[in-house]
Amino acid sequence: FHINLRSHQYRQLNSGSGFQNCTQEGVKDVETEESNKFVPFLERINLRRSESKRSILVQVQSAESYKELYTCCSTVGTVKNMFHYTTGVEPMHFILVEFTKESDVLNILSTSSYSDESQAVPTQSQFLWFKASNRKLGKLKQNKSFKLSIQNGTEIIAESEVRDKLRQCRTVSDQMNVLYDITKLNDVGTRLRYLIARQIESMVSGMFPYASVYPFGSSVNGYGKMGCDLDLVLRLMDKKQNDSRLIFHSKATSGSDRSINQRYVEAIGDQIYLFLPGCSQVRRILQARIPIIKYHHQLTDVECDLSMTNMSGVYMSDFLYIMGELDDRVKPLIFTIRKWAKEVGLTNMSPGRWMTNFSLTLLVLAFLQKPPNSQPVLPSLNALVKLAGPDDKYVTADGIDCSFLRNLNKYNTRTKNRETLESLLTEFFEYYSQFDFASKAISLNEAVTLTKPEFSAMYIINPLERGLNVSKNVSLEEVERFRQEARNAAWMLQSQEKKIPNWGLLSVFENRAKMDFKLNFAINAKHSRLMNVKTLFDKEEEVVFKNEEIKQE
Ligand code: CTP
Ligand code: MG
Repeated sequence: FHINLRSHQYRQLNSGSGFQNCTQEGVKDVETEESNKFVPFLERINLRRSESKRSILVQVQSAESYKELYTCCSTVGTVKNMFHYTTGVEPMHFILVEFTKESDVLNILSTSSYSDESQAVPTQSQFLWFKASNRKLGKLKQNKSFKLSIQNGTEIIAESEVRDKLRQCRTVSDQMNVLYDITKLNDVGTRLRYLIARQIESMVSGMFPYASVYPFGSSVNGYGKMGCDLDLVLRLMDKKQNDSRLIFHSKATSGSDRSINQRYVEAIGDQIYLFLPGCSQVRRILQARIPIIKYHHQLTDVECDLSMTNMSGVYMSDFLYIMGELDDRVKPLIFTIRKWAKEVGLTNMSPGRWMTNFSLTLLVLAFLQKPPNSQPVLPSLNALVKLAGPDDKYVTADGIDCSFLRNLNKYNTRTKNRETLESLLTEFFEYYSQFDFASKAISLNEAVTLTKPEFSAMYIINPLERGLNVSKNVSLEEVERFRQEARNAAWMLQSQEKKIPNWGLLSVFENRAKMDFKLNFAINAKHSRLMNVKTLFDKEEEVVFKNEEIKQE
């Protein structure tokens, strides 16, 4: 049997769309199996990593190709799951195939062929394409016990559809739950992200057989939405030392830790650029506090940030994950506040003097640790540190202690707070609209506010590296804008008319202050003649121009 899988070469892709899923009957999905029970973060990461080692991604002609692909893959191994998705304006079709064993993937890779084009770099990876067959396959050889089914999957939902669904809700709390449900990162999105991590791991595995690439940040901490960026950390040596007397010779490193780290990151970036199929727009950001490589993964349409530092980002994700798992209200609340901040222009894709989603998330968690008018929803980090057992002991290579209780099956305290999501949201806005950012620092370790140790407009103590301020970049103007927007949002929630079409969250997302800000910005831009005013306004928005001059321009 000729294996028609080819190592993947570059293809031009654009934005993402639908997913479909084909599952072998009787074989349970990791995600379905786990959905009702708490799985510790690092265990979950390991399950996903092992899943990615058993998976390949194949570009196909159409969803229908799954039958031929299934037949082809079944000659080499046992297929457990198949997922179909499309991406791009002229849709490109992909099928993610999960096998039952890692050796099945190794067999597939060793029997697959390379592109005929002489210019193509013959890289082997788990990204392949399925050559159209010239001959009729005849009757599809299907194992009777293996019934393929196609279910509807999830896609990046259009903004207009999100708004329609929110309009149809009965209460603000319902809107928050719906927003979370329809925008959160789904199973296939997660699988693809682990496959991207696996691609880097395989790339360096010749020289570094114990290298690991860990996803962290919103892709894995429970607060990621469909299409979110992927943060990755590459560890070249991810294995406990043993006491063998035979030790590998190794090269001594020269230069400061920082300069050598920059060189390594740069070298990995060059390899991604030169050799990895599907990876484009590789950029080096070496001067940042943590040097990173940014690139676009075209086959999955994911933006990636790769660093080579310690594991503290991963342990931080673990902390955020645990907080999200402690109470059902945490994730819908954080999704709503992240969405609000994006809509009113408090957060921004590019780095700068504004708040990041990460600092915003910590502000929400700090509020939930100590809502001013009610019982705590979440415990302090110190409370979790006190409960840490021997299995929870984690210290990074540079000595940062990240030990805290990781298995919530051992956590018996349940919150007495019974507030609705709507009331927590309003309280959040009220709390921060009056918060004394000028003199107070926020500590999630003790769940208190402290006197600021130094001047920074906003001070959130990094819970794992207490000497660092997570929001050091935020300017005084942005803190003021945050307070003002929070005040507006609280006012909108309390005073709105439920009969208007854009009620509840919709009115909060279409905050008046955003319009005024854009208008002011437009006036300034007009005066400095820097840009066309029209480009400042989203096409779908109805902007009431107050200023006749601007309207004309
Ligand atoms: N991180 C950290 N300390 C910082 C900044 C980031 O520990 N000062 C870690 C956190 O675990 C954070 C992750 O790096 O979640 C990724 O940061 P970032 O991409 O900025 O935030 P995300 O949570 O991934 O949110 P987004 O969806 O905006 O990418
Ligand atoms: Mg991120």
